[in-house]
Formats: sequence, structure tokens, C-alpha cells
Amino acid sequence: MLESLLFPFTEEHEMIRQTARDFAQNEIAPIASEFDESGEFPMETIRKMGELGFMGIEVPEEYGGAGMDTLAYVLALEEICKVDAAHGTIMSVNNSLFCYGILRYGTEEQKQRFVKPVASGKAIGAYALTEPTSGSDASNMRTRAVRRGDRYFLNGRKSWVTSGPVADYVVVFAMTDPEKKHHGITAFLVDAKAPGLIRGKKEPKLGIRASATSELLFENCEVPVENRLGEEGEGFKIAMSVLDAGRIGIAAQALGIAEAAYEASLKYATEREAFGQKIAAFQGISFKLADMKTRIEASRLLTYHAALAKERSKSTGERFTLEASMAKLFSSETAMFVTHAAVQIHGGMGYSRELPIERYFRDAKITEIYEGTSEIQRLVIARLESGLH
Ligand code: CAA
Repeated sequence: MLESLLFPFTEEHEMIRQTARDFAQNEIAPIASEFDESGEFPMETIRKMGELGFMGIEVPEEYGGAGMDTLAYVLALEEICKVDAAHGTIMSVNNSLFCYGILRYGTEEQKQRFVKPVASGKAIGAYALTEPTSGSDASNMRTRAVRRGDRYFLNGRKSWVTSGPVADYVVVFAMTDPEKKHHGITAFLVDAKAPGLIRGKKEPKLGIRASATSELLFENCEVPVENRLGEEGEGFKIAMSVLDAGRIGIAAQALGIAEAAYEASLKYATEREAFGQKIAAFQGISFKLADMKTRIEASRLLTYHAALAKERSKSTGERFTLEASMAKLFSSETAMFVTHAAVQIHGGMGYSRELPIERYFRDAKITEIYEGTSEIQRLVIARLESGLH
């Protein structure tokens, strides 16, 4: 395969890919549809994924993780999402949006206290940036944090928090100095049991239904000063650089969903007959399959390439924003294209809940929205390329 010629795959990569594939087939596939239907949080399988090291793949072993690289993370996430994107969402937030930021910007004590339980899957992490009136325009937030002595008091409302209903710890972004605009934003690590943190209603969603999403309300929520992540005013930079890592995870998620939809479509089209021949023999279907396959392989190259750029950044310190945004943009639009075609190829069976095809279609849509919409990815790419603001 092209990927093994272009990318430095090791035995360790093959091992984690196989372990994730086996786990997804044996443990997630049998329950995916039931949890999609009920919208229940799959705590048992998430805990087991933690035991296998999937909740902190790049986290060093001393902080409870598997101590592997970004390519290993992407390969494992792709396999999990190929079976169920909801499990993948929970995995991705724990790995990227939660652990990565603390490993990069946190103190030793914060790594011990917050990363260890989340990376080992004993606790769930979340990331609270978006608000009801600021999604894409993330720096325009209203949540305030005021310092009194050795505590901060947070007031405001965060929305669309993945794992919000069940999270044990949350990275929260709040304004400490509104006059400084984005330079006045600060990041905090908040224990979900902190007085003044209230979980809002769970969102009823189109897809990734087993991954719980909710609002979080802060009413004089007390956060000790030692739980500040980075310095005052560094929050926006932290939020953005953490999203760079997160977007590679969403690219891998989209790739996994697209592969599942493609493989099912290829199988169906080479078995199902109409007008006296297999439907894959009709040009209308075969050209669809050709486009699906080509876009998937292009997504794979961009996604693995972004993973290598992030890995390199660990020694060079260089940003991998461009690679991450291109991978997320292309893979998520591919997932939408491929799952849409998969429903069409399957006809009525694609629309039926008896097959997972309609679930792939519903799950794919969020990848074009969360962790930065496709429009925001285009804006980021265009700005970086042109140098214009
Ligand atoms: N890494 C480090 N720093 C970065 C950066 C990055 N990737 N991107 C921007 N910055 C810095 C800039 O260098 C700049 O710093 P200085 O002012 O010190 O020079 C500062 O941040 C402001 O940058 P911009 O002027 O580009 O900021 P902007 O206000 O125009 O916003 C944006 C840029 C790209 C639109 C950004 O707001 C953005 O990405 N928006 C989308 C937010 C998003 O993805 N939200 C999803 C939230 S998570 C979620 O979906 C829920 C979940 O639970 C999964």
C-alpha cells in the first residue's frame, strides 16, 4: 500500500492498529447501534479502552499513557471510528483537547493530578471554549474569571461541551481581562465537583449520539490559582494550539467513518444485482466507488502527514496548524461525500436502521462542524498561505 511506502510505520504502529481493530470489532461493534439509539454514554467500553492505553496514546507512561507517537494515535482512532465514531469522539477529546494541552502547558503537579487519571481512562476529560454566542468567533467570549486571593471565581456559560454530562475534569477558557480581548483570556483546569459548576441539559444530537454533549454553567465557580493552565492572558494561544492537535484527531475520525461506509458499499455493490447484473458493473455506481476510494486515500495521506508534522513539532516547536486544518477540511468533506454516496448505493437499505450506513451518514456531519467548521479551516489555510489577515 502507498501509505507504507510514504510513512515510517513500525511494528509498534501495526500492533496498535491491530489491537484497536480487534477491540472495535469485538467490544464496540456489538453495542454501537444500541448506544446510538439510546444515547447512553458507553462508560464500560471507554474504561476498557483506557486500560488498553487508548485514552492517552501520546501521553508518557509516567503520566498514565501509552507513550506512543501521533501516528499511533491517528491509526488507533481511525480504527475505533471505523466501527463507532461516538467512541472515537470521547477518545479524541481525552487525548487531544484535554491531555495534550496539559502536557504542553501544565505544571508537573497538574500533569500528575489531571492527566494521569484521564490518560488511563479512569476519568473523563472535557474542553469548554464555545459559548451560546461565540462558536467560530471563539475569542469573543463572555465567561469571566476574577481573582480574589488564591482563587479565581468563574461566571458564565459554555456550550457544546463534548463529554460535559460525565466529565470529571474540564479545561475552561475565561476572560480575566476583557479590555485586552484575546490577550485577556486565561485557561483553567476545573474539577467538575467544584462548587458553582452546574451541568446543563444534554443536547439531543443527529449523530455521535452515544458521546454526551451539554452546556456547563459557572456560578461563582471556585478554582484555586494552582489550577490555572499557563499564565494569565495565554488562554487563547493555548486554545488554538490545542485545537491544532484536536483537528488531526477529527481528520482521523472522518477517515475511519468514510472507510467503513466505502467498504460496506463496495461489498454491497458487488453482491446486489439489478437488471441482470451486479450493480457495481453499472457506470453510475462504479464511478461513485472510484471517487469514494480516491478521496479516502487522499484524506489518509493528508491525515498521516499532519500526524508526522505534529510529531516533528515536539522537537522543533514549529506549528502544524496548516497541516492539521488541511487534513480536517479534506477528510471531513470526504466523510460527508462518501457516506452520502453509501446511502445512495445501498438504496432503501441505506436508509434503514437495520444497517449502520445511515449512522455513518449522521455521524459524518459533525466532522464538518466541531473543532472548527469547514469555513474556519478554509479561513485558517487561506490566511496562513497568503499572510494576509
Ligand atoms: N496556535 C497558536 N497561536 C495561534 C493559533 C494557533 N493555531 N491560531 C491563532 N493563534 C494566535 C495568533 O498568533 C494571534 O496571536 P497574537 O495576537 O499574539 O499575534 C492570536 O492567536 C489571535 O489570532 P487571530 O487574529 O487569527 O484570531 P481570530 O480571532 O481571528 O480567530 C480563528 C481565529 C481561526 C477564527 C479562531 O477563532 C478559530 O479557530 N475559531 C474556531 C474555534 C473552534 O474551532 N471551536 C471549536 C471548539 S471545540 C468543540 O468543537 C467542542 C468539543 O468539545 C469538541
